[in-house]
Amino acid sequence: MFEINHIFALQILDSRGIPTLKVTVVTDEGIVGSASIPSGASTGEGEALELRDGDLKRYKGKGVTQAIRNVEGPLQKILKDRSVLDQEGLDRLMIEADGTKEKKRYGANAILGVSLAIARAAAAALELPLYRYLGGVSARTLPCPMMNVLNGGAHADNPLEIQEFMIRPHGAPTFSEAVRYGAEVFHTLKSILKKKGLSTSVGDEGGFAPAINSTEEALDLLVSSIEAAGFRAGEQISIALDAASSSYFDKKLGQYVDVKKREKGLSIQGRTSAEEVSYLQKLTTKYPIDSIEDGLDEHDWEGWKLLYQRLGDKIQIVGDDLLVTNPTLIKRAFQEKVANAVLIKCNQIGTLSETLEAIRLTQSYGWKAVISHRSGETEDSFIADLSVAMNTGQIKTGSLSRSDRLAKYNRLLEIEEELGASAVFYDSNLFSKK
Ligand code: PGA
Ligand code: ZN
Repeated sequence: MFEINHIFALQILDSRGIPTLKVTVVTDEGIVGSASIPSGASTGEGEALELRDGDLKRYKGKGVTQAIRNVEGPLQKILKDRSVLDQEGLDRLMIEADGTKEKKRYGANAILGVSLAIARAAAAALELPLYRYLGGVSARTLPCPMMNVLNGGAHADNPLEIQEFMIRPHGAPTFSEAVRYGAEVFHTLKSILKKKGLSTSVGDEGGFAPAINSTEEALDLLVSSIEAAGFRAGEQISIALDAASSSYFDKKLGQYVDVKKREKGLSIQGRTSAEEVSYLQKLTTKYPIDSIEDGLDEHDWEGWKLLYQRLGDKIQIVGDDLLVTNPTLIKRAFQEKVANAVLIKCNQIGTLSETLEAIRLTQSYGWKAVISHRSGETEDSFIADLSVAMNTGQIKTGSLSRSDRLAKYNRLLEIEEELGASAVFYDSNLFSKK
């Protein structure tokens, strides 16, 4: 029962207007499952390969028609007549057929599209919501969102070097209240920016991207917006940062350099790894920051170690570009004590089964897994269900504007409604710090 009859894929556009794939799996019974694939801008070097056509005459080389041919050709051939209920087995077949560490032969975008579409078809076959199919009876934790209301770094055209300034409404009693807290702060921030004569246009993840110069100025704006919206900063709503610092680490100098200011011709003093750690530490004493992602460059393991020694028992230290949802790297990070949380992005590793393995490994260490979107997204809300299924307690899926971000929040609101009294919202006792 529920054997794959055929698989097809369509080239669609993501939230940045760049091609991506939507893959559909159809069983012999006519049951259908589809999934669309996101795409990053500040990608980690160790991520699985995103296959692009490279034909400069079409979409500036960013087309995915070869990835589509791989789905409809070899991948379909391997999977035809196999049951969609065997997620792990089908993922393994694709991994083996690809045969490369980075999924270079068929492309991680092609393989993941099929993998996620299989899960959707399986859930539909069993007439279960996706989170229930993936997580079983224990799937009932609504995640605390990290809402990226100020965008900088590679996601915005402003002078801010840190990529994401997020609010975490962890003091809200329910997920829907957390969404309200976040939306009210977002709108308050908008009024404050307007009053200051700053731009309220938004960056890639729907957060504002005003032309402000310093990290401190951005953090001051967040604290005043949280308070002006009537919330207690730190107690009800804290701040999370994704520095994405690989984007401003100068490999030649071996220093952290404000690249955006240097590009403008300003002479900039670089910071050593130890100075960067001290700087981040200083920010956490001055502001209610309780989570820092990619505070150091993805190759600066010594710097990570130092940051963990200084702050690991006080705040959440999240590895994204450093760990790229890769079980081998997550193991190394645990052994070397460099983090206490892992950002989970399905397309960094390239199949659902490997993503689930990365989450289980992370949780087995008592670490937190934070399910995450990419800066280039679609209307697909798979990650909302995934966060509930795995009871990760945290999700990072952008700001309170743009439908590609809100699709995930809106899906979580539906799940909360469906779970009714059995829904649990992120429990700060369980999910604080480490
Ligand atoms: P990306 O950014 O999707 O552009 O990689 C998100 C992140 O760094 O967390
Ligand atoms: Zn990141």
